[in-house]
Amino acid sequence: DQLKKLEHVTDLMEEFGKIENVRIGNPTDVKEKLKKMALGGEHKLLVISDFDFTLSRFQNEKGERLSTTHGVFDDNVMRLNPALGQKFVDLREKYYPIEFSPNLTVEEKIPHMEKWWGSSHQLIVNEKFSKSTIEDFVRQSRIVFKDGAEELIQSLDAHSVPLVIFSAGIGNIIEIFLQQKLGAIPRNTHFISNMILFDENEQARAFSEPLIHTFCKNSSVIQKETSFFHEISGRTNVILLGDSMGDIHMDVGVEKNGPTLKIGFYNGDLSDQKALDHYVEVYDIVLVHDPTMNIAQKVIDMIN
Ligand code: TMP
Repeated sequence: DQLKKLEHVTDLMEEFGKIENVRIGNPTDVKEKLKKMALGGEHKLLVISDFDFTLSRFQNEKGERLSTTHGVFDDNVMRLNPALGQKFVDLREKYYPIEFSPNLTVEEKIPHMEKWWGSSHQLIVNEKFSKSTIEDFVRQSRIVFKDGAEELIQSLDAHSVPLVIFSAGIGNIIEIFLQQKLGAIPRNTHFISNMILFDENEQARAFSEPLIHTFCKNSSVIQKETSFFHEISGRTNVILLGDSMGDIHMDVGVEKNGPTLKIGFYNGDLSDQKALDHYVEVYDIVLVHDPTMNIAQKVIDMIN
């Protein structure tokens, strides 16, 4: 049985080697991790995933950019109240280039990210958006699952493998999106994200603390006392899914001594070799412009 599992690892590595948009910087290392994970099986497995442009698609078939969870407000508010919508767009145009600037360090970026998230959340709270309005916004949004994302979430649930969706976006929007697409939130799925807190009239009144932005997705924002972290304490093997440099430390809050296999979606410019090289350096497996969850699903199927 164990031998068979190790054979599967060899087959999988061979298969990945033949897929054009799969980049693996250190195949020996990846193979070692996969072996440990295959032998550990589903009871040792935990999946930690980003949401925006990781579980959700970056662009549609026409190459048009799709929406992040925050983007749900930009689009819908623009339609209903252009002056306010423009404020969200202005924030994004100001801060997005800072988030991805190759010329600034993370330390230099952080105060700008705090300002972006703070201003954006303030606009949402000032407007007192109601829960039902937000549900409508999500229904009309351009958030689209990657191909196979629904099946991936459901297959993890079927095997009782916990899935932590760790997002610097807005957790309620993800919950509503999953509810609308899957009919319910699977029992295995947990959120670490910014949550809109509603008042007794179901109107937005504040955001949860601590604020989670792109560059603090690590143990500093995880409340370890919650029972969920006891539930996952025996799970030493982690598959981490992300799309940005801010996602690579999402496993830091988990107390474990097993491997983390980092799978990164590269949505950037294909001609930017330096950026792509950087992804290959920090992620074990890099998927270039991949609109599917196929590779992650293959790894999970191999383990389960
Ligand atoms: P994430 O991929 O780590 O969940 O990051 C969320 C993305 O949301 C990040 O790239 C910045 C973006 N964002 C917006 O598009 N609009 C906003 O108002 C804010 C605060 C963030």
